Amino acid sequence: MAKCLALSLIMAGLFIGLVSPQWNILNPKWGKSVEVVNRPEWNILNQRLRKGVVGDNLKNYCESWRINVELNNIRGFSVVPQECVDHVKKYMTSSQYNVDSVRAVEEIRLYMSGFCTLKDDGKDSWIFDIDETLLSTIPYYKKHGFGGEKLNVTSLEEWMKKSKAPALDHTLELFHEIKNKGFKIFLISSRKENLRSPTVDNLVSVGYHGWTRLTLRGFDDELVEVKKYHSMVRQQLVDEGYNIWGIVGDQWSTFDGLPMAKRTFKLPNSIYYKA
Ligand SMILES: *[C@@H]1O[C@H](CO)[C@@H](O)[C@H](O)[C@H]1NC(C)=O
Repeated sequence: MAKCLALSLIMAGLFIGLVSPQWNILNPKWGKSVEVVNRPEWNILNQRLRKGVVGDNLKNYCESWRINVELNNIRGFSVVPQECVDHVKKYMTSSQYNVDSVRAVEEIRLYMSGFCTLKDDGKDSWIFDIDETLLSTIPYYKKHGFGGEKLNVTSLEEWMKKSKAPALDHTLELFHEIKNKGFKIFLISSRKENLRSPTVDNLVSVGYHGWTRLTLRGFDDELVEVKKYHSMVRQQLVDEGYNIWGIVGDQWSTFDGLPMAKRTFKLPNSIYYKA
């Protein structure tokens, strides 16, 4: 209890520390942008934007496409719109992608720091997805149109069989932190069962180890939607008495459906969509 109180005080301090200066910094900025709007140059710029002379129109359009993918408003796309492939590529290889991922990981740490008591009955569990969560397939997409080409599953799986996907470093750190807190870690991926051995090799070679179970899609599972498959595996865990504290994934289909985890954390991915 004392530990909880101390934690709460630290958190409150952090919160005040973080929030108040931000307001002070941001407020004058907003003030300035109001001034800018009223300047004549701004009107000229606006006209040019409307005519599409300045490239920002496309940038805004594509960023809006990207954010609406993340918000789960845009669903079921099979390719990134052609005019936005460059934008998505820039984002997914940018420091912003990195910062967004770090932020998500920090939020998970914050959530975890609030657990004063785990049940500690060997049933506390955490779920990770694999691609764009533990491992990055960006090197593959770099060579194959960066989401702008329709996915060739054969070619992607050939690449996966080489076990050369790099780790997402922030998730790698988090993985071990969560494991060391005593959680049982379950990896649930929509990769196929025949990729088990290269997937394990890949995970181990970049530093992942100590998970409890790796679930891949068997032949029967391939007949159901990814979303349904994930929820079926979660149901199995719940039936076995596991308490699912959280899920980290890059696709909404990783979280959707019942049973739900206590919290879910979405990592950015605007290259592809899995229903
Ligand atoms: C998909 O990839 C395989 C393996 O690289 C290749 O043989 C095949 O031609 C590709 N299919 C299409 C439609 O591009």
